[in-house]
Amino acid sequence: MSDRRGFTLWFTGLSGAGKSTIADLVGPELERRGVLVDYLDGDVVRTHLSKGLGFSKEDRDTNINRIGWVASRLTRAGAVTLVSAISPYRDTRADARRMVEEFGPFVEVFVDTSVEECANRDVKGLYAKAFAGEIKEFTGVSDPYEAPEDPEIHIRTESQTPEQSAAEVVAALEARGLIGQAVGA
Ligand code: ADX
Repeated sequence: MSDRRGFTLWFTGLSGAGKSTIADLVGPELERRGVLVDYLDGDVVRTHLSKGLGFSKEDRDTNINRIGWVASRLTRAGAVTLVSAISPYRDTRADARRMVEEFGPFVEVFVDTSVEECANRDVKGLYAKAFAGEIKEFTGVSDPYEAPEDPEIHIRTESQTPEQSAAEVVAALEARGLIGQAVGA
């Protein structure tokens, strides 16, 4: 058995909320602490592990169950797994939490950005299409997003930069004793 302690950081929030952006800033900070970091990003997972799945509740649940299962295996192996997926349903996130917690901590990070702000940013141009009715079942526009009621970490992206959000996540992990100080810090 390795003495490394894996855990999963689960970023949930609307499309374009900043989940992947923040995860991509947090990951290298964790690597500087000597941990093995792995990423499960919804957009990427949907190109292989979940290829062919759509955005019905059933397909989203299948996607999140797959991600939760892989995260649980990586957590078991001692990696720190950064998941970025809308994961809009509370019950399905709870299922993922149960799978991961068999092997290590599950830290839910609510990337809290309003629909209005995501639509303003509209990095992928999807909100314009969703409001025009060209994309059906779009989260936050024509499909539900069940916000976490009691996330371990609550990030409000509208009042700070992605770098500040990432620093807040890292500080919260330190405070929980999940990571040590950066080497050389
Ligand atoms: S989840 O609901 O199953 O967790 P996931 O995070 O994997 O979603 O994928 C979300 C990404 O798919 C969005 O960031 C966006 O780029 C794209 N997408 C395409 N159609 C939709 C839709 N109807 N609702 C939400 N996101 C969509």
